[in-house]
Amino acid sequence: MAGGYPKIAQFKDAGAFRSRLSELGLSLPVDERVLSAAESSPLAEPLLIGSERTGSSFRVGNRWCIHPMEGWDANRDGSPSEFTLRRWRNFGASGAKLIWGGEAAAVQGDGRANPRQTLATEENLSGLVQLRETLVGEHAARFGNTDDLLVGLQLTHSGRYSRPDGPPAPRIAYHHPLLDAKMGLDPHDATVVWTDDDLERLIDCYVAAAKLAEQAGFQFVDVKACHGYLLHEFLSARRRPGRFGGDFDGRSRILRTIIERIRAEVPRLLVGVRLSVFDTVPFATSREVGRPMAFDAVLPYDCGFGVDAHDPLTMDLREPIELLRTLRDLGVAMVNLSAGSPYYNPHVQRPAIFPPSDGYQPPEDPLVGVGRQVDAARRCKEAVADLPMVGTGYTYLQDYLPHVAQAVVRAGWIDSVGLGRMVLSYPELPADVLAGRPLVRKQLCRTFSDCTTAPRNGIVSGCFPLDAYYKRLPEAEALRRVKFS
Ligand SMILES: Cc1cc2nc3c(=O)[nH]c(=O)nc-3n(C[C@H](O)[C@H](O)[C@H](O)COP(=O)(O)O)c2cc1C
Ligand code: SF4
Repeated sequence: MAGGYPKIAQFKDAGAFRSRLSELGLSLPVDERVLSAAESSPLAEPLLIGSERTGSSFRVGNRWCIHPMEGWDANRDGSPSEFTLRRWRNFGASGAKLIWGGEAAAVQGDGRANPRQTLATEENLSGLVQLRETLVGEHAARFGNTDDLLVGLQLTHSGRYSRPDGPPAPRIAYHHPLLDAKMGLDPHDATVVWTDDDLERLIDCYVAAAKLAEQAGFQFVDVKACHGYLLHEFLSARRRPGRFGGDFDGRSRILRTIIERIRAEVPRLLVGVRLSVFDTVPFATSREVGRPMAFDAVLPYDCGFGVDAHDPLTMDLREPIELLRTLRDLGVAMVNLSAGSPYYNPHVQRPAIFPPSDGYQPPEDPLVGVGRQVDAARRCKEAVADLPMVGTGYTYLQDYLPHVAQAVVRAGWIDSVGLGRMVLSYPELPADVLAGRPLVRKQLCRTFSDCTTAPRNGIVSGCFPLDAYYKRLPEAEALRRVKFS
């Protein structure tokens, strides 16, 4: 037991795992036997992305997706380092046919979440080409065919979490009473709030980055609107006056405008959106068991997106579903559904049994967090059936990830299953499942969170516990010192 919760590796088979799910009241489907592609696995079915509505379409070769995973490891000028290239090579080796953005790339310098974030700016065009070609080359070498491989680039501005030169340099949509307090931000500091004029220039940067992505050979861009970063924060900007805040129309204006402009000016490029589809109030910074920050004084809670204003620990999917319909009507080809933020409610965003160094102990069995994400995605899919959707939060399922992935795709709960942390420790998992090979258990991500602890302490990210390449680096020793200091 860790945090009082049984570990996944302790369950002896799918039946025992299923019993634990029912003990927790979770209705996650678990297939008894995982099929290979040759046995007509639902995960080997192609997926049609786009349509007449989007102006172009693409047949993705299977139902596995690789989520964007940054590594805090680009060069200072935003170009890829050997670490960055290795990660993208591994994405290509995974066998997944949908590569959702590779990693967050900042559309302008002040929007980097760390000084080593990849840049999607003119100076890094050759770096972007190199990333894509490395991935596609590896995929071709392993699997031959790349005609059914869809590769995008995730575009971001880190907003409240910008640290382009190391120290925090937030640029926020509006002052948020709880997040300002959590970050030590002066609630009256107007200089950190975007002006409408600056936002117009930012929109131009997103469009320029999309043009660059197309030039670099990417087939789509993801206009990232998740995890507390800028375009996600705007969706809850009820307190912001003017064109880009207030009602739903105002709060979604910046996202809609960027999409409309990209669709008009780069018409052959597909557009995706990664969205935090629900949220909760921020959790308190602590090393104890996680608990929400006190929120009674801010009820009804007007600072969340996909949050019940009267009970802000509960999701309310009405607005997110309205947004998904809007995105579909704007010609968005597909969405990737995530939740919450790694900065203020990591147990919601990436369920883990071991917290990172700046995180709290899990306040619930992490399986509950997985179930919440899978269920929210199911409800979104049911409501907007004609928009292709990728699901998130599956890594914590570990040995039973393929059993659940197969079941949810077969049942039509989701179109494609995305992998985050699992692809860092075990890149070939999709290829192994499709080929009918048994899982390599010692490579399964056990959610040790070192890939988050490392960058929180200025060290490059990577799977230090399980990936021999990272285990051997001098950074592994530095990480050990941080963890046990
Ligand atoms: C080290 C690390 C880097 C990440 N980088 C990104 C990123 O660049 N863009 C993004 O949208 N999500 C990022 N995420 C979130 C993941 O894509 C994913 O949503 C999350 O890990 C939950 O999925 P999982 O349970 O499969 O790990 C990152 C997560 C980790 C652990
Ligand atoms: S460090 Fe490795 S095992 Fe730990 S959470 Fe990250 S990917 Fe998983």
